[in-house]
Amino acid sequence: MRIAMIGTGYVGLVSGACFSEFGVHVTCMDKDKGKIDQLLRGEIPIYEPGLDDLVAKNVKAGRLTFTLDLAEAMKGADAVFIAVGTPTRRGDGHADLTYVYAAAEEIAANLDGYTVVVNKSTVPVGTGREVEAIIRKARPDAEFDVASNPEFLREGAAIGDFMRPDRVVIGAESERARDTMRRLYRPLHLIETPIVMTNRETAELTKYAANAFLATKITFINEIADLCEKVGADVHDVAKGIGLDGRIGKKFLHPGPGYGGSCFPKDTLALVRTAQQHEAPVRIVETVVDINDKRKKSMTSRIVAACEGSLAGKTVAVLGVTFKPNTDDMRDAPSLDIVPALQAAGAHVRAFDPAGMHEAAKLLPGVDWRADAYQTLEGADCVAILTEWNEFRALDLNRCKALLKRPAMVDLRNIYNPAEMAAAGFLYSSIGRGS
Ligand code: UGA
Repeated sequence: MRIAMIGTGYVGLVSGACFSEFGVHVTCMDKDKGKIDQLLRGEIPIYEPGLDDLVAKNVKAGRLTFTLDLAEAMKGADAVFIAVGTPTRRGDGHADLTYVYAAAEEIAANLDGYTVVVNKSTVPVGTGREVEAIIRKARPDAEFDVASNPEFLREGAAIGDFMRPDRVVIGAESERARDTMRRLYRPLHLIETPIVMTNRETAELTKYAANAFLATKITFINEIADLCEKVGADVHDVAKGIGLDGRIGKKFLHPGPGYGGSCFPKDTLALVRTAQQHEAPVRIVETVVDINDKRKKSMTSRIVAACEGSLAGKTVAVLGVTFKPNTDDMRDAPSLDIVPALQAAGAHVRAFDPAGMHEAAKLLPGVDWRADAYQTLEGADCVAILTEWNEFRALDLNRCKALLKRPAMVDLRNIYNPAEMAAAGFLYSSIGRGS
């Protein structure tokens, strides 16, 4: 089989590389010459564990190629995937579909025999129908179908998520399109991956419902964590105690500074707007969006408290600035709220992140970037852990204590144990561990 992938961003590049690993011939197309040149040189523009090897292997095998030319990419393709960005539209919170519609126009101009146009970008309900109308208008006689195939990859674990997914969701309107999609995902049949075959609108909404549900789960445990602090309970035991109930499930119950990233904040907001537009508001998600925004901002007060109530003239060492570990992605990272608030309160902020500093330096002015965790701690009044990178989980605590001016640690990811930290002589605070 042969496919074209439009967009070599996170979703497009990972999906393209993984489909080629399934034995499909994949041509990834992007308008960004810099990116295509990089990929042709064997360089990967994003940070994702394992992606470099996977790309190199499949390029070598002749199954994965890159181009700037969509006509070339679509030649003889059974399917063309749209994997372009759908950022939040300025001003109203809706998803911006400019790139998706532009891709539809270009696909129309290059259709070459029956092709399934597959939307992998996260798009509001009804976008598939709109894409179909655009193509039909430009090419009234062309043979094509438009399907929806949302992706459920997590950054940092994307390849595993693609190769061994919990499920694949496909929304298609014809047997011919369903058959092409089934054939593309054939290797997953062998590992008995459930495939949810449904209509287009359902597939589109399933993606938003999944992300909104996960964001709600995180927000729920974050609020329970705050309550735990007041009543002397331990949020991890509460999470375990409820999560062992199969109806609840134990994942996504880890408390923290609020969810961030390229997906949850944007998708929850877009779902809220779509629901309002259809006069079927999802009030629970509206509340989640509001709580999460406020939560990220409120984290600063924990650091102020650790600095004896004032940040004026104090130095705060920040460990981790990306929205989660194993990525260089800074989109909607809690650090973007927390660091400027610390600076506004008079603190001098020093920071280190294993992969995010290049991007973060553009977004967080005035930060003193250091080369490792220990250099960041030197002479600081307090250390705040904002991202749970593995290398922060096993710091040499005695060395940290000796480097800090005051042994104060605010652990917003709960990677250390309160009793052990107290025994090691730290003034330690974390989330939802009240006793
Ligand atoms: C998320 C979903 O998990 C994927 O299934 C989905 O495909 C993706 O969005 C998308 O729509 O493209 P991702 O944004 O990469 O993936 O990251 P997650 O690992 O889900 O983390 C999101 C945020 O929630 C992070 O800020 C993380 O720190 C936070 N989180 C996650 C918690 O605070 N607690 C948890 O228990 C889990």
